[in-house]
Amino acid sequence: MSGHDTPIKTPKQLIIAVVLGFVIPVVVIVLLTRFIGAQPKPGAGSNLFTAEATAQRVAPVSTVSTEAPKGVAVAAAVTKVRSGEEVYKAKCVGCHAAGALGAPKFGDKAAWAPRIGQGYQALVNSSIKGKGKMGAQATGGYTEEEIAAAVKHLVNASGGSF
Ligand code: HEC
Repeated sequence: MSGHDTPIKTPKQLIIAVVLGFVIPVVVIVLLTRFIGAQPKPGAGSNLFTAEATAQRVAPVSTVSTEAPKGVAVAAAVTKVRSGEEVYKAKCVGCHAAGALGAPKFGDKAAWAPRIGQGYQALVNSSIKGKGKMGAQATGGYTEEEIAAAVKHLVNASGGSF
């Protein structure tokens, strides 16, 4: 060994240094790949890695059923939007069919014409929040969207074209 300092002084130390030089990086790489592999990173809101989703992916083709996956069925039930006609019949017909409390009647074009002139958004707003003797309608589990659909149904049957 010439002049410069080295911690490796014997053949035995050289062998240990070489072995460690190989083994340590290999162990680190193996640990890193296991660490990364153990943590799938699905996109936000994804359920790709749930046990159920995995079972569905690996299930034999012959057992595919026509049923929607459970999660989808629940979402559909929760977000089922009633049609304008359904909402009208459930919630508005009491006043607007016969003109109770002075409500403009269903199908009465003359009564509706000046109101239609205010525009769709104004009519939706007064239905959602209430106007005169009509209370706020976006209540009792009815969404603003459903009330808007009911306004469309009512007004379009009365000379409007929203
Ligand atoms: C309690 C009786 C009552 C119920 C229930 C009712 N309305 Fe009315 N509605 C009225 C009355 C009364 C008016 C007239 C209000 C006024 O102009 O002072 C009116 C007016 C309206 C107008 C015209 C608003 C405007 O700005 O001129 C719309 C649109 C309307 N109702 C839609 C609906 C819809 C849609 C429903 C059901 C979701 C509904 N109403 C339920 C009594 C009712």
